[in-house]
Amino acid sequence: MAVTILAIESSCDDTSVAVVRDGFVLSNLIANQEVHMAYGGVVPELASRAHQANIVPVAQAAISRAGINAEDISAVAFTRGPGLLGSLLVGTSFAKGFALGRNIPLIEVNHLHAHVLAHFILTEGGAKRLPSFPFLCLLVSGGHTRIILMRSHLEMEVLGNTIDDAAGEAFDKCGKVMGFPYPAGPLIDKLAAEGNGFAYKFAKPRVNGLDFSFSGLKTSFLYFLRDRLKEDPDFIEKNKADLCASLQNVIVSILSDKIAKASRQTGITEIGIAGGVSANSGLRNALTVQAVKENWNLFIPELRFTTDNAAMIGITGYYKYLRGEFTDQGVAPLARY
Ligand code: KG4
Ligand code: ZN
Repeated sequence: MAVTILAIESSCDDTSVAVVRDGFVLSNLIANQEVHMAYGGVVPELASRAHQANIVPVAQAAISRAGINAEDISAVAFTRGPGLLGSLLVGTSFAKGFALGRNIPLIEVNHLHAHVLAHFILTEGGAKRLPSFPFLCLLVSGGHTRIILMRSHLEMEVLGNTIDDAAGEAFDKCGKVMGFPYPAGPLIDKLAAEGNGFAYKFAKPRVNGLDFSFSGLKTSFLYFLRDRLKEDPDFIEKNKADLCASLQNVIVSILSDKIAKASRQTGITEIGIAGGVSANSGLRNALTVQAVKENWNLFIPELRFTTDNAAMIGITGYYKYLRGEFTDQGVAPLARY
């Protein structure tokens, strides 16, 4: 019999619901919350309220778009954490209620695990190349920057982590300094395409092992702009493209150096990227070139599965379902998983 998972993601500012059947995504809907743009970052209380308004209509639409009935659903998977507690509570409560009402299993999912397993989401039409294990994944998002070693779908080990800001935060905070709305990553990516990545040089941090650091870069970017703006108040406006290209260049180079180091250390050449920042075209291009040089089998997820989405929660729920890893109704969300 088919295994059909209803998946809920509400860890931050996107309300997403997906239906995944036997590993294939049948629907994956996302309601973005534009209310945060004016504040330069996600406001937790507003996020939680928007999730409450969105969750039921988005779930109804995802079920109907998938062309299934509620009776066809085998289990409900939801993001237990990490994330904003008030946001997680909405998705968790909805998932618990739905599972209880239909008397079907509940499956908790770690949001970071799900970003990595996004590589295993199957889509209709065409064979898909899947990573084999062991598999190294560079997980880069707004909240996390990690190098994760996957030994199987459900066994993972963190080899490297950021000691301060995440890569996405570096994009967003530097973008804020330039006056860009939140999240700035996509706009920096777009402007960088027209700029010179070597116009300005920003120092790379020295961090031991496989860990990362981005807060120094943010500070030096801020001081650099402060000095230039004293000489020319229009400096940012005149040099936007070069600033974005140079900033992106250094972030991409920090990330690609570390994943290359991890590959050499472990001898693993199955390499993937995941998370919102893996949508970045500079990172995708740099790693594609490096993959040829280093003989990697490189996996780059489809754009729609890089930023937060419920399909990745659904695929993780599917593998947990196959192993019978279910969650008790007494479960509470975890801001830190
Ligand atoms: O994975 P995600 O949707 O949410 C978290 O779990 O954090 O990642 C969001 C992050 C934001 O920091 C956003 O600026 C960044 O991903 N991002 C990008 C791009 N698209 C999204 N950063 C650089 N280039 C992009 N194209
Ligand atoms: Zn995420």
